[in-house]
Amino acid sequence: MGYRVVVAGATGNVGREMLNILAEREFPIDDIAVLASRRSLGTEVSFGDKTLKTQDLATFDFTGWDMALFAVGSGPTKEFAPKAAAAGCVVIDNSSLYRYDPDVPLIVPECNAEAIHGYSKKNIIANPNCSTAQMVVALKPLHDRAKIKRVVVSTYQSVSGAGKEGMDELWDQTKAIYNPTDDVKVKKFQKQIAFNVIPHIEVFMEDGSTKEEWKMVAETKKIEDPSIKVTATCVRVPVFVGHAEAVNVEFEDFLDEDEARDILREAPGCMVIDKREDGGYVTPIECVGDFATFISRIRQDSTVENGLNIWVVSDNLRKGAALNAVQIAEVLGRECLKKG
Ligand SMILES: NC(=O)c1ccc[n+]([C@@H]2O[C@H](COP(=O)([O-])OP(=O)(O)OC[C@H]3O[C@@H](n4cnc5c(N)ncnc54)[C@H](OP(=O)(O)O)[C@@H]3O)[C@@H](O)[C@H]2O)c1
Repeated sequence: MGYRVVVAGATGNVGREMLNILAEREFPIDDIAVLASRRSLGTEVSFGDKTLKTQDLATFDFTGWDMALFAVGSGPTKEFAPKAAAAGCVVIDNSSLYRYDPDVPLIVPECNAEAIHGYSKKNIIANPNCSTAQMVVALKPLHDRAKIKRVVVSTYQSVSGAGKEGMDELWDQTKAIYNPTDDVKVKKFQKQIAFNVIPHIEVFMEDGSTKEEWKMVAETKKIEDPSIKVTATCVRVPVFVGHAEAVNVEFEDFLDEDEARDILREAPGCMVIDKREDGGYVTPIECVGDFATFISRIRQDSTVENGLNIWVVSDNLRKGAALNAVQIAEVLGRECLKKG
C-alpha cells in the first residue's frame, strides 16, 4: 500500500522538481493531486510518464490525504497549511513560515532525521532555506569529528532561488542587453542581475544583515547545533540554477584537510570533487539535476588555530528544496506513517 500525496505549488520551480523527484525515487504513491492557484486551474504538469491537471489549492479538500508537499510561498501557506494539517494530512513545507516554530521540526535528513517524531505537534514539518540545506549537509560530518565553533560563509545564489520570476528576469535582461531597442527592466531583484552580482537577498534586518543571512544563522543552529556561530553574506549571481558557497570553518579540535576530505567522501549526501588542477572542482552548471552536495577546494586555513576552507555547490531546487522535501517524506513514511 502506498501514500495519497498532494503537491501544492506544482506549477512552480520547486513543485515541478518535487514531482520529478517523487517519480525518480519511486516514492510509493497510490494517488497524487497537484495544486496551484486558481490562475493555473487545469494547467498540465508531468509526473513520470503521466500528465496531471492542476486543481485549486483554495478549494481542495485534504481529508483522506496522507501528506502534502507545499511550495507556494509563506502567504498561501499561512492560509492553507493549517487546513491540511487539521484534516490529518501531514504538511512538508518549503516556505520559511514554520521553520523557527519550536513545535515544528526543521529537517535535513542527513543531519537530524530523528527530529521527525516532533511532526505530530502540528502535523507540519519545515524544509530549510536552500543555502542552509547544502551547507549543513557538508558541515555535519565535520562537526561530528572536530566540533565546529564558527562558520563564515559567502554565498553565490542562483536566480531560481527567487522562483519563476527570478529566472524570467535574468533571461529578459540578458536578451535586452543584446537588443539595444529594449529596456533592461528591474522588477524582482533590487538592481540589474544580468552581468552583475547583488549582495542583497530578502529584506534588511535591524543589525544590517539581510533576512537570508539571518536564516542561515538561525537554521544552522536549529538543525545542527545551537552552539555553532555563523556569519553569512548572501549574494545573488546571474546563474539560473545551482548555489555555490565559500565556507570558512573554525573547529575546536584540529582537523587535517586530508582527513576532512576522507570524512566528506564517506558522508551521506556528499560528493567530493577536489583536484588541485584546472577544472578540478564543481561549479553550479555541473550540479544541476543532481542529488548530491558537491564539495571542492578543501584546504587548511592557516590564519586560525583549527580552520578549513571548503567550496560547496548544490542544485538549489533539489537539495535546497524539492529533494530535501521528498527525503523528509521518505523518513516520515518509514519512521512514522509506515504504509509504503
Ligand atoms: N527556489 C528555491 O531554491 C527554493 C528553495 C527553498 C525554498 N523555496 C520556497 O519554495 C516556495 C516556492 O518557491 P518556487 O521557487 O517554486 O516559486 P515559484 O516558481 O514562483 O512557484 C510558486 C508556486 O506557488 C503557487 N502559488 C502562488 N500563490 C498561490 C496561491 N495563492 N495559491 C496557490 N498556489 C499559489 C504558484 O502557482 P501559480 O503558477 O498558479 O501562480 C506556483 O505553483 C517558496 O516558499 C520558496 O521560498 C524555494
